[in-house]
Amino acid sequence: MSRTIFVTNALPYANGPIHLGHLVGYIQADIWVRFQRMQGHTVHYVCADDAHGTPIMLAAEKVGVAPEKFIASIQDEHERDFKGFFVEFDNYHTTHSAENKELAELFYARLKQGGHVATRQIEQYYDPVKRMFLPDRYIKGECPKCGAADQYGDSCENCASTYAPTDLKNPRSVVSGATPVLKPSEHYFFRLSNFADVLQQWLGEAQLHSSVRNKLREWLDAGLKDWDISRDAPYFGFEIPDAPGKYFYVWLDAPIGYFASLLDYCKSSDLDFEAILAQSEMWHFIGKDIVNFHGLFWPAMLHGAGYRTPAALSVNGYLTVNGAKMSKSRGTFIRAETYLKHLNPEYLRYYYAAKLADGPEDLDLNLDDFVARINSDLVGKYVNIASRCAGFIEKQFDGKLAGRLHDEAIHRRFVAAAADIGASYGRRDYAAALRAVMALADEANVAIQALAPWAMAKDPARREQLHLVCTTFLNLFRLLTVYLKPVLPRLAQQAEQFLNLPAQGWSSVHKPLLDHAIRPYQPLLTRADPAAVKAMVAESTEDMKAAVPAAIAAAPSPHKSAGSGFGRAEGDPVGAGARDGAGKPSPTRGEGEKAAAAAGEIGIDDFGKVELRIARIENAEHVEGADKLVKLTLDLGALGRRQVFAGIKSAYAPESLVGRLTVVVANLAPRKMRFGVSEGMVLAASHGDGKPFLLAPDSGAEPGMRVK
Ligand code: 2FM
Ligand code: ZN
Repeated sequence: MSRTIFVTNALPYANGPIHLGHLVGYIQADIWVRFQRMQGHTVHYVCADDAHGTPIMLAAEKVGVAPEKFIASIQDEHERDFKGFFVEFDNYHTTHSAENKELAELFYARLKQGGHVATRQIEQYYDPVKRMFLPDRYIKGECPKCGAADQYGDSCENCASTYAPTDLKNPRSVVSGATPVLKPSEHYFFRLSNFADVLQQWLGEAQLHSSVRNKLREWLDAGLKDWDISRDAPYFGFEIPDAPGKYFYVWLDAPIGYFASLLDYCKSSDLDFEAILAQSEMWHFIGKDIVNFHGLFWPAMLHGAGYRTPAALSVNGYLTVNGAKMSKSRGTFIRAETYLKHLNPEYLRYYYAAKLADGPEDLDLNLDDFVARINSDLVGKYVNIASRCAGFIEKQFDGKLAGRLHDEAIHRRFVAAAADIGASYGRRDYAAALRAVMALADEANVAIQALAPWAMAKDPARREQLHLVCTTFLNLFRLLTVYLKPVLPRLAQQAEQFLNLPAQGWSSVHKPLLDHAIRPYQPLLTRADPAAVKAMVAESTEDMKAAVPAAIAAAPSPHKSAGSGFGRAEGDPVGAGARDGAGKPSPTRGEGEKAAAAAGEIGIDDFGKVELRIARIENAEHVEGADKLVKLTLDLGALGRRQVFAGIKSAYAPESLVGRLTVVVANLAPRKMRFGVSEGMVLAASHGDGKPFLLAPDSGAEPGMRVK
């Protein structure tokens, strides 16, 4: 029976690049979608950028662009990277869209009407300098349990305890460095506990891995808390209707973004949005860190708003590289873009698929094993079958296959395998599917070796046998191509071209290719080169020095609770006790600040220690006996006057500087120089020792202003 399936992938945040960790879930979903289509099912496969929230707002501010512009350029990069790996969505949208606004408001109105929204006052830490409420991850201080310094407001990376930000000792705002103050504010809550029965029932019906179901049951049994769905301005998101200054929390409109992307797609392809939602099974492919959002809040929201709940959650684990958490200093935090510069995307698709089963286990990308497996399986086994037989057909038989096979039994066995291989793909046990495919490839290679067509080719008496044998093996190659096609779409397409076939579906395997003209064979795949892997790792190590992305990457992500297993702290449905322990490998989406801090990068809190101020140059003089220095007297407004020696003489006559505004590091410890004490440092740009360009603010800035 033909199915209609609506498939989504977790929406990546629009504040950082796609990396190999993200790709586990995207490649997993794309393979499944391709397989279902080969079965003749109808699939609508969408994704979008998750564009709202405090980290994105601050990241945009940091690079000095409007958030709309910021998210648009990140979205372009994301779409490019997904295409590069043949992750082919029907539609890629953004949560910052008219469709998502409309749907978020619709969900909210229906939930409110159903009595599922409550308001109450809460007290929260507020940054009096930045004038904003602070998410837990934007507050740092000493751990209330073990005393470790520099811990986030929700959990300690030293002792793994979880707590409220108000428990931190000596708290400070990560944004401005100020001491936060408690401030009351009215918040909107989704009454999750109204849906306890609905969720119990959904848990019994939905397709879930047993470990995921168990975890969700545990949370449900512990009792559900109301979920805070509002945030105060300033916030990048959608304002809540009739609630000025209150915004939907990013996690409220993020999953609605699945619908928004579908709606956008329906508009452009003349499909019926409501009919698709009513008729299709909805499958969400997600990482294990967001199970709570998709297994509790989202089904409850859907039910409350009158929509069908998800048919299934497919949950993947985290990626490790060479057995460890991805690391920038080791060069194993590899961006999709960097990978594509060095290696074939289908190598990674194959490697991931060969290690993916249906559970949320972590997946290790061992780079030596990666090279070995591609070369042994794809080049040595699969492609080898075609390359050993194609030449004889082309040169000796005018490119035409024989009218029968030399061994029908082997062909039948290969055809019969379609059922089991298909079942494995269907249940997302790609590892089992590919093991079966490679066992067949082994069998074919052993048979080729035994029959030695190259020997037959030397004996005119065995010409017909040669024709039949090569026809048989090219038929087996064709079957393996169909079985590998969900994983290797481009390679399969090239193989179909060589075999002179239209796009093959799963059911095309039954009829052998006989008396069929094929095209000249072109090498289908080159060997994976260890030197290319090395170059990719080297470039990933250097990636950290790239200024703008590093600045974005260094922004703390309140979306990631340190090392939680299933679910995240900020989506904690039942309270701290339900959280998993810390110390797990990196999440597949994004990486915490820790990794960003390695190898030369600084965190925003380090940057916050540098006090930059606007200064007016009151006086500038030559320094007797100094070739490069100018002695400046700076006016820092309320901060008073400073004397600073600046190495800018090669570019500026002292008198030309008087009256100019510039930027000074105001909290640099005074340094005794040969010519006097320097009480700060003015900022200038240059190429190494080249001519300096003094930095200056736009007009309107005033001495003493803080530069951030
Ligand atoms: O964890 C994340 O990266 C989120 N941006 C995923 C959102 S998935 C969906 F709910 F929108
Ligand atoms: Zn601690």
